Amino acid sequence: MSQATNQSWGGRFSEPTDAFVARFTASVNFDQRLAPQDIQGSIAHATMLARVGVLTDDERDAIINGLNEIQGEIERGEFNWSVPLEDVHMNIEARLTEKIGITGKKLHTGRSRNDQVATDIRLFMRDEIDVIEVELKRLREGMIELADREAETIMPGFTHLQTAQPVTFGHHILAWQEMLARDHERLLDCRKRVNVMPLGAAALAGTTYPIDRHVTAELLGFDRPTENSLDAVSDRDFAIEFTSFASILLMHLSRMSEELVLWTSAQFNFIDLPDRFCTGSSIMPQKKNPDVPELVRGKTGRVYGHLMSLLTLMKSQPLAYNKDNQEDKEPLFDAVDTVRDCLKAFADMVPAIEPKKASMYEAARRGFSTATDLADYLVRKGVAFRDAHEIVGQSVAYGLKSEKDLSEMSLDELKQFSDTIEQDVFEVLTLEGSVAARNHIGGTAPNQVRAAAQRARETLSALKAGA
Ligand code: ARG
Repeated sequence: MSQATNQSWGGRFSEPTDAFVARFTASVNFDQRLAPQDIQGSIAHATMLARVGVLTDDERDAIINGLNEIQGEIERGEFNWSVPLEDVHMNIEARLTEKIGITGKKLHTGRSRNDQVATDIRLFMRDEIDVIEVELKRLREGMIELADREAETIMPGFTHLQTAQPVTFGHHILAWQEMLARDHERLLDCRKRVNVMPLGAAALAGTTYPIDRHVTAELLGFDRPTENSLDAVSDRDFAIEFTSFASILLMHLSRMSEELVLWTSAQFNFIDLPDRFCTGSSIMPQKKNPDVPELVRGKTGRVYGHLMSLLTLMKSQPLAYNKDNQEDKEPLFDAVDTVRDCLKAFADMVPAIEPKKASMYEAARRGFSTATDLADYLVRKGVAFRDAHEIVGQSVAYGLKSEKDLSEMSLDELKQFSDTIEQDVFEVLTLEGSVAARNHIGGTAPNQVRAAAQRARETLSALKAGA
């Protein structure tokens, strides 16, 4: 360390860093979270350096043992993180040198913090993506099973949040599941570009030591080393891709949350959420609030914010590494934590949704939701669709006045609007008949919902975690 600055890079400096600047530029308070990955990367780097003859086997072993001890100190909370040492990388290296002497200083041969930090974040993201994938799978499975159970349960389907046509509850839940299936593909696609190794790019131009990047990549489980050293130290696309995945996922969870909040209200009264996912009010004793979906809906905003932060962080950076990149960590960490927690909350909650079938059925029955079925009936009897639309419109107007749903009118009442209507109309005016008639792939008929659930199960189990 330099006399003047007490810093590992202080050789060319003649005065110490300003105390505020030291705090302002330090990242250790947040990047210490990367310690396990930093140590993992350093062990692989030292192993490779010994293999190509840059370190002796004894030096390698001393480094690896020292790093493993440091890992233990960190896990036990005994490690003294130092802000003057700036970041996680220098904290660990300084402690290693304290423990094993001069050999500790050899670890940094042939690398720079620039390729080191890029490697650490990628290792971290890979670990987190694998954890997130497990939760995403669990949630999808929960939805598929709920949909299968509720394949026959009838509810109103909405457009413009107005009752449109009856659908099955299972069909509605499988619509959610489709959103998550796309998110799942996006996550796995993002993982491919995360799992590439920057180590060896050094500061920006590579290194003069005879390193073998394939060895390090293999030791760390990366698919391959990065192609270009300038790009390797400066690329954060993978972080932006993850945060876009996270934003779209949270947008989906937020839409689902909105429906759960509506459905639990007394006005809809479609479902019950078990008490363990709700809280009460300190002033209104009757209240049971759907806090979990509300919070998930609320947390969507911060994840969108992180996506904007990262895009803006990168937009004007010239090649190669810039200190700006230190700002990538906090948004990324928070996006990861938020996604993990929201998925866990949903995966626990969705299988516990209790549909109030009678109430859903009644809502579907009340809203003239089989009006399109009546029009289709008339068309099958030879009436032009536009005329059928008009006839049904008049029947609905009559129903509104007389407070009767279409299925509650007598044949004579219906015949006022068209002679074509016969006794068999009542088969299509029932909710069961309406949903069963939409009997094609992607339709809401109960047997189609069961078949779709089965296909979803198969697609899901064909996806291999970490593939
Ligand atoms: N703490 C830095 C970061 O997060 C590590 C890399 C620092 N490199 C440098 N040349 N100052 O990006």
